Amino acid sequence: MSMNTFGHIFRVTTWGESHGPALGATVDGCPPGIEISEEFIQVFLDRRRPGQSKMTTQRQEPDRVRILSGVFEGRSTGTPIQLMIENTDQRSKDYGAIAQAFRPGHADITYHLKYGIRDYRGGGRSSARETAARVAAGGVAQAVLKALVPGLTITGYMVQMGDKHLNRANFDADEILNNPFFLPDATAVADWTDYLEGLRKAQNSVGAAVEVVATGCPAGLGAPIYAKMDSDLAAAMMTINAVKGVEIGEGMAAATLMGTENADEIVMGPEGPEFLSNHAGGILGGITTGQPIVVRFAVKPTSSILTPRRSINAAGEPVDVVTKGRHDPCVGIRAVPVAEAMMACVILDHLLLDRAQTDGVRGEIG
Ligand SMILES: Cc1cc2nc3c(=O)[nH]c(=O)nc-3n(C[C@H](O)[C@H](O)[C@H](O)COP(=O)(O)O)c2cc1C
Repeated sequence: MSMNTFGHIFRVTTWGESHGPALGATVDGCPPGIEISEEFIQVFLDRRRPGQSKMTTQRQEPDRVRILSGVFEGRSTGTPIQLMIENTDQRSKDYGAIAQAFRPGHADITYHLKYGIRDYRGGGRSSARETAARVAAGGVAQAVLKALVPGLTITGYMVQMGDKHLNRANFDADEILNNPFFLPDATAVADWTDYLEGLRKAQNSVGAAVEVVATGCPAGLGAPIYAKMDSDLAAAMMTINAVKGVEIGEGMAAATLMGTENADEIVMGPEGPEFLSNHAGGILGGITTGQPIVVRFAVKPTSSILTPRRSINAAGEPVDVVTKGRHDPCVGIRAVPVAEAMMACVILDHLLLDRAQTDGVRGEIG
């Protein structure tokens, strides 16, 4: 039974715990001959790396990735690629208090109920340390996409943190990597910083919403019925720790629209069909239209907070849980590179599926 693997053809298995010696990913199904290096993958890991600002956990992890197999003389060989990242800054004593007690809002209680045994140190397997492994696997996917679909870009950013919303009129993609929030609006950074600082000092945390957009994705990827591009993307985003809701295109807002508003009208352009809007988020019938793929998701507030919360221990006795340790006050921030990685893996997986089934043959218009 494998519950740690995702993907149809480009298959990623992650392994490891928060306070174990290392964690990583095994990537199987990578096409041969693709240029892949540790340096290329490291760029993505550095974006997710903890301890880079006061806005994220102060755990200091270099997150250096090592490629142990599947790459020879700088190119993929078609065999499994083993990626490993060492854990170097564990402070397991911080977690002594939750060895027996269950943090409200965290996975301690469900892991205990299901398995009867858990590595409580840093949350063990339920810790978002695991997402470093996905980001490394996403780096491999990005390397393959760069070679096979050179025009494709995947960009994630924050659109909401608590009651702070991105003002889309100020959207500036060039600003995303210039601030600790992955926020495409430089003018809002100071306000978001004060807001999160206030919450951190008040020993609280806050939720967020993240948007990820893929542009330059060819039409025709995704398949009916159980391998839809949108169902696979939603599932992939939902596997990210703390994600509680996923939307594609209009998402939940589609419930308020009329058919006349929501229909993305089609005209014939010089290069082929063109859509006059993109309420569909780039996917119709589970298959990409060639328009930008737009995915949004909500992330809940960090459950590990210093403010006491009522809970119980393994003996069933009432306890007040105060979670020490180094935690992200808003986990949505570092979810951004994780989401980009998941999108890269899903799109590549569908590209490879499409090559296997249709060999790139397309219906013609005009
Ligand atoms: C990038 C990232 C960092 C996270 N950091 C923390 C953290 O520091 N403390 C914490 O309690 N939860 C953190 N989480 C969330 C927990 O891992 C998650 O809530 C927990 O595994 C329970 O799973 P669920 O919320 O998906 O049900 C983080 C999530 C992400 C995506």
